[in-house]
Amino acid sequence: MSSGVDTALISAAYIVAALLFILSLAGLSKHETAKDGNVLGMIGMALALVATLWLALRGSSALNWLLIVVAVAIGAVIGIWRARRVEMTGMPELIAMLHSFVGAAAVLVGFNTFLATGTEGSDGVHLVEIFLGVFIGAVTFTGSIVAFLKLSARISSKPLMLPARHWLNLTAVVVSVGLLVWFAASHSIVLLAVMTAIALAFGWHLVASIGGGDMPVVVSMLNSYSGWAAAAAGFMLGNDLLIVTGALVGSSGAYLSYIMCKAMNRSFVSVIAGGFGSDGAVSVDVDYGEHRETNAEEVADMLTHASSVVITPGYGMAVAQAQYPVAELTAKLREKGVDVRFGIHPVAGRLPGHMNVLLAEARVPYDIVLEMDEINDDFPGTDVVLVIGANDTVNPAAAEDPTSPIAGMPVLQVWNAKDVVVFKRSMNAGYAGVQNPLFFRDNSAMLFGDAKERVEDIIKAL
Ligand code: TAP
Repeated sequence: MSSGVDTALISAAYIVAALLFILSLAGLSKHETAKDGNVLGMIGMALALVATLWLALRGSSALNWLLIVVAVAIGAVIGIWRARRVEMTGMPELIAMLHSFVGAAAVLVGFNTFLATGTEGSDGVHLVEIFLGVFIGAVTFTGSIVAFLKLSARISSKPLMLPARHWLNLTAVVVSVGLLVWFAASHSIVLLAVMTAIALAFGWHLVASIGGGDMPVVVSMLNSYSGWAAAAAGFMLGNDLLIVTGALVGSSGAYLSYIMCKAMNRSFVSVIAGGFGSDGAVSVDVDYGEHRETNAEEVADMLTHASSVVITPGYGMAVAQAQYPVAELTAKLREKGVDVRFGIHPVAGRLPGHMNVLLAEARVPYDIVLEMDEINDDFPGTDVVLVIGANDTVNPAAAEDPTSPIAGMPVLQVWNAKDVVVFKRSMNAGYAGVQNPLFFRDNSAMLFGDAKERVEDIIKAL
């Protein structure tokens, strides 16, 4: 095949792959089409990989092909092994770890491109591309590692509160801008290396200073950064598909972060700037009084006499894998004529859509699964709310205590219902590490134990 035909075919493959990625994103935006969206994305990625390998290696020696095939095979084996083993609850950690690879790749591509093409006489725009690519890549790399460590509870999820931390961030950015100007004029790799060290520390600090409650936004923000890092690598390598794909990931990640910030009442700009989400205020230990305990028989009795029930699931339902008995309980109650609905908080669980995926897996009908805004006004008319393994997302302190670290975060106002039953194993705090006054309200009762076992007990008692 002549090289002209070759190049035309590769360009065509890139355009088709880019279109498939756009269709994939469109598919992923709805439950019903999410699976098809995933398949389109996979086909696009396979096409992109084949075309890129062909572009990079045509005319190359057999040894080069062999090295690439071995590298791709090792990567694929590790990827398949990790993805098959990961629990749904461990997904955000896995995603954070994968983002760190994109960041590291952008840094390596940046240095490599500089060594290959950045010498004396190369044009300034190219040097700026390299500098920005390495900067975004380094921030994404360490930021994602901290997010991974926090999400997997290897380090505390509490925000790191260095004195003058916002000034530290600002200084890092200002110094990096100064280095950029100097680098473009001097072409010195030392300046690139100094900026890389600053950017690595900056990324680390940026995410370390964000508290647990804001972590979901951080993960999707890092998703966005990793997209921009890939786009920057695309500019450096002159690869159009990488630019388009990076921009798609970058902008969709930023948009998701914006939606989540709205859901958590956090300022988008302040979260991107790092650590503004929490000013470190920790609510003082308040004595909320005594809590009341209940048992499966009592709850079964309460449910039989109820005409409307709302279930608000959270991370604990995912841990206990309680979605199957919850679906069975729902079906049983509906057979008895009870109106059962679900109220889903936008950040319930550990990743966006976590609860929706679990409930869909257990075949709970979509039409009774409502968003927080759709159900919040209905709680005063609800007989029983079952809070299954949720904590922060039903915490009245968010609405009532301005000193709470989660103050201002919109929550499911379950306390307005006639009776509330909270399923959890202990009186421990939720993800944000704050106590929940809901547990001590007169209309609340605690049903202790593993959520799956307790729901099964209720089904038996029914
Ligand atoms: P959490 O506030 O984390 O509360 C989960 C509760 O489940 C805990 O209080 C825990 O209490 C209970 N639990 C754990 N295992 C259980 C089991 N086997 N059986 C029964 N209960 C169990 O969850 P949430 O209300 O879903 O809120 C989500 C939190 O995660 C928010 O703070 C959110 O900001 C954060 N976050 C969300 C995301 C996204 S995008 N969704 C990502 C990262 C972080 P016990 O230990 O006493 O059982």
